[in-house]
Amino acid sequence: MITGKTKVIGIFGSPIGHTLSPVIHNEAFRALKIDYCYVPFHVKKENLREAVQAIRALNLKGVNVTVPHKERVVEYLDELSEEVLKIGAANTILNSEGILKGFNTDVKGFITSIKEEGVEIAGRKVLLIGAGGAARAVAYGVLKEAGKVYIFNRTVEKAKEIEKQFNDIGEIRALPELSERVTRDMEIVINATSLGMKRDDPYPIDPYLLNSSHIYYDVVYPQTPLMREVKKKGCKVIGGLGMLVWQAVYAFEIWTGVRPSAEIFMKILNKVLTNSKKFATKHT
Ligand code: ATR
Repeated sequence: MITGKTKVIGIFGSPIGHTLSPVIHNEAFRALKIDYCYVPFHVKKENLREAVQAIRALNLKGVNVTVPHKERVVEYLDELSEEVLKIGAANTILNSEGILKGFNTDVKGFITSIKEEGVEIAGRKVLLIGAGGAARAVAYGVLKEAGKVYIFNRTVEKAKEIEKQFNDIGEIRALPELSERVTRDMEIVINATSLGMKRDDPYPIDPYLLNSSHIYYDVVYPQTPLMREVKKKGCKVIGGLGMLVWQAVYAFEIWTGVRPSAEIFMKILNKVLTNSKKFATKHT
């Protein structure tokens, strides 16, 4: 029940109708008997600044930030975590007595989700496809875990920019193309593009380039046709549901001080996804 004491969390995005975050957080607040509620706000690009100011004015306890605001929101915050400073994108804000602190829980969300599948990153060669916000979070996570990043993107310049920006953290190299020779050498292949979200999307990588020695990680959820195809080839496949769950776990902890179990979130998500129309996304 919402009372005068209930703390309010929001999510800012445009569009916002696709988001599963209100369902998973509200169900978790209820299950853990924490007096919070979580509300979606359709915030258009031109209103982001006012929306962030409203966090203080309305005394929201925090918000999630999703497409297309993760990058632009950073300039309106008071304090930034180390990863937000480096990546230039935030997905979680905490209102700490009027001070707005920005975090990027996609990074830890990615790392925990791949580790819980028993995959070690340290010292391994990781082919990362994409150079948008999700790819930056993944690249940062892999480098922090001492993996080696080989980044490929349709717009090669953007991959080169990430190489330049991140090469002080670890080994990262931009690739001009995806050749058989280079791909054979990789141990983990990660799709961080949006490809797979729409039914007629092309594949981010030709499955011909993958074999059973590759671990294939995709930030999109639920399963895409490419995930199914590479699974048949014998690859270990990890979808984006784990990353969604863990970024939510860490955001929940930032706002409430309570670390919920990932199982609660996973159970809620599975229920929602089974009941909803089939769709795929990589967004919170
Ligand atoms: P997000 O913040 O969710 O990662 P984004 O910043 O819009 O989203 O990034 C989308 C990524 O998917 C980019 O790497 C984009 O490639 P470009 O930088 O060349 O635009 C990639 N992407 C989207 N559609 C694509 C397509 N049809 N073919 C190849 N890559 C695509």
